[in-house]
Amino acid sequence: MMRRAIARKRDGDALDARVWRDIVASFLAGSIDDAQVAALLMAVTIRGLDDDETTALTSAFIDSGETLRAPDERTVDKHSSGGVADTASLVVVPLVAACGIPVAKLSGRALGHTGGTLDKLEALPGLRTDLDPEAFFAIVDRVGCAIAAQSARLVPADKRIYALRDRTSTVSAPGLIAASIVSKKIAGGARAIVYDVKCGNGAFVHDVPGARALARSLVDLTRAFGRRARAIVSDMNEPLGRAIGTGLELCEARDLLRGEHDDPRLLAIVMRLASAMLAAAAPSTFDASSARVSLEAALHGGHAYETFFAMLRAQGGSDRDLEMLAPHPTALAAVADRAGYVTGIETVGLGERARDLVATSGARAGIVVRARVGDRIAHGDVLAVVHGHDAATMVTEIARCFTIGDDAPQARSLVYDEIGDLSEGTFAATGTARASARSTLERK
Ligand code: URA
Ligand code: CA
Repeated sequence: MMRRAIARKRDGDALDARVWRDIVASFLAGSIDDAQVAALLMAVTIRGLDDDETTALTSAFIDSGETLRAPDERTVDKHSSGGVADTASLVVVPLVAACGIPVAKLSGRALGHTGGTLDKLEALPGLRTDLDPEAFFAIVDRVGCAIAAQSARLVPADKRIYALRDRTSTVSAPGLIAASIVSKKIAGGARAIVYDVKCGNGAFVHDVPGARALARSLVDLTRAFGRRARAIVSDMNEPLGRAIGTGLELCEARDLLRGEHDDPRLLAIVMRLASAMLAAAAPSTFDASSARVSLEAALHGGHAYETFFAMLRAQGGSDRDLEMLAPHPTALAAVADRAGYVTGIETVGLGERARDLVATSGARAGIVVRARVGDRIAHGDVLAVVHGHDAATMVTEIARCFTIGDDAPQARSLVYDEIGDLSEGTFAATGTARASARSTLERK
């Protein structure tokens, strides 16, 4: 079976849903080895997957493990494709919950230079993210929201195949990325899912057309499984917020929810994502303008902050520790060695250096960005503040992540696109694989 499937994919044919299902099940059962699956993944990376194949693979992934179902029909989840200083999840989760919509968010760890929401939460002593499904949904029910680790019992096939993709340079195939992301979100049980597809030099996808295509396929695939979906395509050519580093990002989220900090880029993305989450979760209650009104009230009235506190407390964190969380006291400024305009920021470089600072000095270390692309600066102005024992050895490299030129750069959008207007209908799916994907889920 496997040799034929590899040969057919190599020659550009599509495999049918039953074949995908057998391959995934046999691989997990140990009856097909890594070499054959690796060859198939390479053929897929070169030839691509059509929509029906992507749906079939996603369905096979979902069926490889347990699936959850959120008790409340309006429950929403959110996924970011990964970036630097992307603190949005920590803010939108309690913000949306404070508007009355349950948020059950499953999160992952840091991948490469990008931050992981779980690592940021765990900067708070005692905070637990390894919640079993009962505890997870119980907290969502009581507090309005929870953020838990993706359990190993959900989509075990993705974990095995992702490891093989990583070893064989086949991570970047769009169909494989979509199946990997969407299977985990569907298995997590939310009824509506909002994706933030990052695009730029700090993201895994660098160009707008590529990010738009991924966003489209995430939305279509999610709808094929009977869930409501939206996606935004947003800029990652510079850090999103100002803080980079696990504990520093938790501080930034806390301060933003408390109204003590309002970085306009982070706040704009937060409002965009939160609006999309409300509209996807409860389309008959929220349109763009009523979502905005509710979100502003929850943010400025303090209810979002109270919800954030309640969630952290329910997951084992303490009020006092959250209050006390502060940047590492050893701090040095990375300064501009000339006057001009900031024309570019090496986003991956900042992400990697913040990760190194946290690794050596702990959760309170990292980088706070002061200068933005387009800012006009003088010689000696602060570009970023570096926190951690080894700040002195890092400031020069960090200053070099900022390019300074004579002319102002062209302004860039923060949000390039939004995909998945709900008037398109809940099911955009057609085809036999999609029909079988739906019937699989309906059996559960
Ligand atoms: N994130 C995932 O979970 N899977 C991918 O394949 C890529 C990013
Ligand atoms: Ca404000």
